[in-house]
Amino acid sequence: MKDFAGKTAFITGGASGIGLGIATTLLEAGAKVVIADIEQAHLSEAKTMLASHEGAAHFIRLDVRDRGAMRRAAEETAQIFGNVHILCNNAGTGLSVPIEEASYEDWDLIFSINLGGTINGIVTFLPGMKAHGEGGHLVNTSSMAGIIPCPSWAGLYSATKFAIRGLSESLRLSLAPFNIGVSTLCPGMVDTRIMTAERRLRPERRGSGADDWPEKMEFAMKPREVGARVLEGIRRQSAFIFTHGHFREEVAALFAEILDDFPPPSEPCAEEKAVEDARRRDIEVRKALIVAQVARV
Ligand code: NAI
Repeated sequence: MKDFAGKTAFITGGASGIGLGIATTLLEAGAKVVIADIEQAHLSEAKTMLASHEGAAHFIRLDVRDRGAMRRAAEETAQIFGNVHILCNNAGTGLSVPIEEASYEDWDLIFSINLGGTINGIVTFLPGMKAHGEGGHLVNTSSMAGIIPCPSWAGLYSATKFAIRGLSESLRLSLAPFNIGVSTLCPGMVDTRIMTAERRLRPERRGSGADDWPEKMEFAMKPREVGARVLEGIRRQSAFIFTHGHFREEVAALFAEILDDFPPPSEPCAEEKAVEDARRRDIEVRKALIVAQVARV
């Protein structure tokens, strides 16, 4: 997808931070955008900020954990703007509880929003995106914490973001025949409300380890810049949308560590080789389709 004019986007967690940055950039590029968010205060603020885009921006209060509400939001979107072309599964939260101290309630809470919300978005919107046949794109917000594992208080968060990354990479290959791209968005630090998200979510409890982390991140990249990178990633059908180049060496070192743990090269038996070769060929065919789509559009 190179041209956003007239296309429709649905963005979860779209009323603040990165979601709002993506929404603003898409609106400026001529898209119609539905901004879905759980926080009424964020929605009201975003509506004021985007007043100049009246008619092209629509706001829906939505908890991404609520599958019925997600379906109703999809129906409302179809009524107002027609077919959805871009789905940004972006809503997310942190939870400052170390893995070794986490309760079932903690695991359920963060997985239901970060991963569950992404799954609900896919199950709700993807059938329609495939059916209309006009092509499309999914942007699933992971994190650099979905590439580089975080210890301690960010461990649960990291686990959700690894899951989103795995799901997205697999889905990218699956959707290649449908002309629907999938990008995994992996930002580094961005100046948003993320560090106070947990307190909004459950004011009664503050986890242990995150106290040394800055609550405000004015020094960090601005959401609009992330929005611009997302549009570029959609245009190029990039597998990953990275925002911070300074992670490159760290990622290279991590992958070198992974390779270090492999046993010496070995030759699989003929049957195993046949299965693995078929899998590799399937992946190559799907990647070639994506390359052809990028060249054609
Ligand atoms: P933010 O807190 O400014 O925005 C997140 C929005 O999601 C908020 O408006 C919030 O109300 C909404 N939200 C939370 N739970 C929701 C739910 N259950 N249903 C619907 N909406 C919900 O934070 P930010 O940073 O913009 O977060 C967006 C995404 O970016 C998250 O997935 C986060 O994990 C990810 N991210 C953020 C980074 C950062 O440094 N800010 C870095 C890497 C990833």
